[in-house]
Amino acid sequence: MQEQGFTLWFTGLSGAGKTTISQRVGEHLRQQGKKVEILDGDIVRQHLTRDLGFSKADRDENIYRIGFVAHLLCRNGVYVLVAAISPYADARQKVREMIGRNFLEIYVNSPLAVCEARDVKGLYKKARAGEIKHFTGIDDPYEPPTNPDLECRTDRETIEESVRKVLQLLALRAGQKHEILLR
Ligand SMILES: Nc1ncnc2c1ncn2[C@@H]1O[C@H](COP(=O)(O)OP(=O)(O)OP(=O)(O)O)[C@@H](O)[C@H]1O
Ligand SMILES: [Mg+2]
Repeated sequence: MQEQGFTLWFTGLSGAGKTTISQRVGEHLRQQGKKVEILDGDIVRQHLTRDLGFSKADRDENIYRIGFVAHLLCRNGVYVLVAAISPYADARQKVREMIGRNFLEIYVNSPLAVCEARDVKGLYKKARAGEIKHFTGIDDPYEPPTNPDLECRTDRETIEESVRKVLQLLALRAGQKHEILLR
């Protein structure tokens, strides 16, 4: 029987740690012999959603397309790791409905001040200077998940702790599926 895949959807502000955690989790899963694909917002926006901007409609379309691809992969046994800001709760909910029970929402949470101090890509500086408009957390909204499957407080946890939590959640959910199948 085809092994079940999962979609791990990492949402959070720029600089919260989505790319960092998803890449580390991906390495662990590959070592376990899983098929893994990472859909990282930065890369997706250079290809699949190159035509889109940062209005709500375009951000929602970005999430919908990523969700659609994640769904196709996930149902074929792939562990899909999505690292995209995904600022709107309704768009995340639609993707959850599309993918179903194997969708796990992971809130990569760090206060704006911490993300801004990290300024991994120098984008907060540009946003504050007005060089970038519609930057999430500065002059564009971020709607935090109200009931995520997991929250990683990356201002308080080490990367290793956050990665471990994600792997534990996955082991739990995969195990539960297995039990249901055996029943
Ligand atoms: N527990 C943690 N988990 C993840 N990253 C952490 C953690 N603690 C500290 N960090 C640091 O936070 C930064 C997160 O940057 P990263 O590029 O992963 O953010 P991002 O959420 O992918 O941002 P963007 O939306 O701009 O792509 C890295 O420099 C990382 O080392
Ligand atoms: Mg990233």
